[in-house]
Amino acid sequence: MEEIFGVIGDPIGHSMSPLIHNDAFKHHHIKGVYLPFQVKKEHLKEAVEGIKALGIKGLNVTIPHKVSIMPMLDEIDESARLIGAVNTVQNRDGKLIGYNTDGVGFYKSIKPFVQKEHSEAQVLLIGAGGAARAILTTLAKEGFVNIDLVNRTKERAQQLKELCPFQINGKIYSLEEFRHTVKIYDLIVQTTSIGMSPHVHAKPLELSGLIHEQTVVTDIIYNPLQTAFLKEAKKLGAKTVDGVGMFVHQAAQAFQLWTGIEPNVQRMKNIVYEKLRGAS
Ligand code: ATR
Repeated sequence: MEEIFGVIGDPIGHSMSPLIHNDAFKHHHIKGVYLPFQVKKEHLKEAVEGIKALGIKGLNVTIPHKVSIMPMLDEIDESARLIGAVNTVQNRDGKLIGYNTDGVGFYKSIKPFVQKEHSEAQVLLIGAGGAARAILTTLAKEGFVNIDLVNRTKERAQQLKELCPFQINGKIYSLEEFRHTVKIYDLIVQTTSIGMSPHVHAKPLELSGLIHEQTVVTDIIYNPLQTAFLKEAKKLGAKTVDGVGMFVHQAAQAFQLWTGIEPNVQRMKNIVYEKLRGAS
């Protein structure tokens, strides 16, 4: 019998998760099917009850349910507790366990490129939303301590720092205050929606004066693949990592939780690249 997996969110139509998970099931000879479920905020509780009633084996959770689903689950894994959000649910014999694979997915995407000792590296994190929280928590857990935060609304960046369960040093700036800052970073992470299609020319800040040749610049946006921010970073000679890395690594971690099998991440990347290039 085929086992059922899926993703719940609203909207959900453009999710590329079904594409990569269904391919991975086929590739690894697993009898599984992965479906998108559009679930409105007011129907989340019924949907979660439905996971148990229908025997759905695993789900990904996306906007707007990542936080609100937490009290509806039977157990919250440490990964989700520290980040304060769930993006993956496992149905273990009728018990629903919430995990978060976004943070580790992000970390896996940048790890091969960061040469500097984590405790020595200077990091700039741009943005203070849900994605920034998953990334900050994971970077701090992995031993990065020098992390400056910059966000349009400075108070949100302050809150983000306070929510971080690990000790970090670093300054907090509004975007306005940060302008004209000269400081060389080893890792710069862009987590805002600035530069997302269709506003492809927008950038949160200028990179000149902030990077050297070993700097890793990453943008979690993957549509477009090369944001204006990443293009500028490349032009200035930095190493760049696009948002596909985080997306496929969070998916791979979820797949592994559900099946015990480590999927082929490069295969997942190729599927996403092909789809995105076809769309542009
Ligand atoms: P997510 O959960 O995807 O991170 P979010 O919680 O809505 O989404 O956060 C979006 C981030 O993008 C925030 O850092 C937001 O800045 P504010 O905290 O000031 O709202 C940032 N952002 C979105 N649009 C922006 C814009 N036009 N200019 C500057 N920052 C923007």
